[in-house]
Amino acid sequence: MKILVTGGLGYIGSHTVVALQNEGYEPIVIDNLSNSSIEVLDGIEKITGKRPEFHQLDLRVKTDVERFFERNIDLSGIIHFAASKAVGESVKNPLLYYENNINTLVYVLQNMKYLTHQNFIFSSSCTVYGQADELPITEHAPIKTAMSPYGNTKQIGEEIIQDACKANSEFSAISLRYFNPIGAHESALIGELPLGVPQNLMPFITQTAIGLRDKLSVFGNNYPTPDGTCIRDYIHVMDLAEAHVIALKRLIDKASDSQFGVFNLGTGTGSSVMEVINAFERVSETSINYKIADRRSGDVTSAYAHTEKAKNVLGWATKYSLDDAVKSAWKWEQYIRKT
Ligand SMILES: NC(=O)c1ccc[n+]([C@@H]2O[C@H](COP(=O)([O-])OP(=O)(O)OC[C@H]3O[C@@H](n4cnc5c(N)ncnc54)[C@H](O)[C@@H]3O)[C@@H](O)[C@H]2O)c1
Repeated sequence: MKILVTGGLGYIGSHTVVALQNEGYEPIVIDNLSNSSIEVLDGIEKITGKRPEFHQLDLRVKTDVERFFERNIDLSGIIHFAASKAVGESVKNPLLYYENNINTLVYVLQNMKYLTHQNFIFSSSCTVYGQADELPITEHAPIKTAMSPYGNTKQIGEEIIQDACKANSEFSAISLRYFNPIGAHESALIGELPLGVPQNLMPFITQTAIGLRDKLSVFGNNYPTPDGTCIRDYIHVMDLAEAHVIALKRLIDKASDSQFGVFNLGTGTGSSVMEVINAFERVSETSINYKIADRRSGDVTSAYAHTEKAKNVLGWATKYSLDDAVKSAWKWEQYIRKT
């Protein structure tokens, strides 16, 4: 079965391509390499022995998207990762984010009508919940006003997909709301490759440990949490990748009565920034130079997932621990700085 993976050379996309190949699917990757590198294909091939079909294509170019779909009507599903994801950049350049995250989504959805199998998985985020009133966060938690244009593109994206479902009974979709993906494939042949200064904690930790950055800033230690630092739900990227394959299979098998579903993807456990730093120092036997800095605007205090729906309905649960994820992230950082 051929599966289109947009943004398939990016961080989560590349791990999902590996998971798809391992389950016997044939992923076809579209990526414009705006936040990834062509060498990721080599990493995937080394892991699975198979080089996925690749199209360097910018999904903002509507005619190119149309041409791709006209030639690939035999797809069994689409996993749509392609998007821009830097929260801070989205505040500075919102229109770029609306163009890249919304236009591309619309173009892909418009072209799904050519396909016999209209199964669609969307990369959403726990940012849609903002600071939830109750923890752990269930899928029923209210969607809060987005704190950034990036977050808004995920909310709008989900609405667009639901409207598309209402208008076309052939179309089925699942929106996966990721918590905080970290880690890398155990081989360290693929992983997260942030361009410029990392926005997320884990690559900042590993880059500091390897000497690329002077110091890690911990943004605020006066939050109402046990150690004063923010709490997040860190999920191993391989667990996340597996969830995509399971969700896709659910759509392909027509296992659901509803055309649109939403699932949280997290571990169900919150870890504070200091707990992650301590876990890193323990598993890597390396100490991290860090300083306490001011709170960062837009950061919520605490967010972790209620995982029962994913467990009961998808039959999916995480297998990896925080230590596993941290260990693999460190192995990956050491690998990329050597090559
Ligand atoms: N990483 C996270 O913390 C996180 C959390 C929640 C949701 N998400 C979402 O998951 C998805 C994947 O995230 P990621 O961390 O793998 O990001 P990533 O930047 O590593 O991957 C996205 C890929 O899409 C490609 N791309 C971007 N715009 C494109 C376009 N116009 N045409 C073709 N390709 C394009 C990029 O080159 C990149 O390879 C994104 O939609 C992101 O918003 C990520």
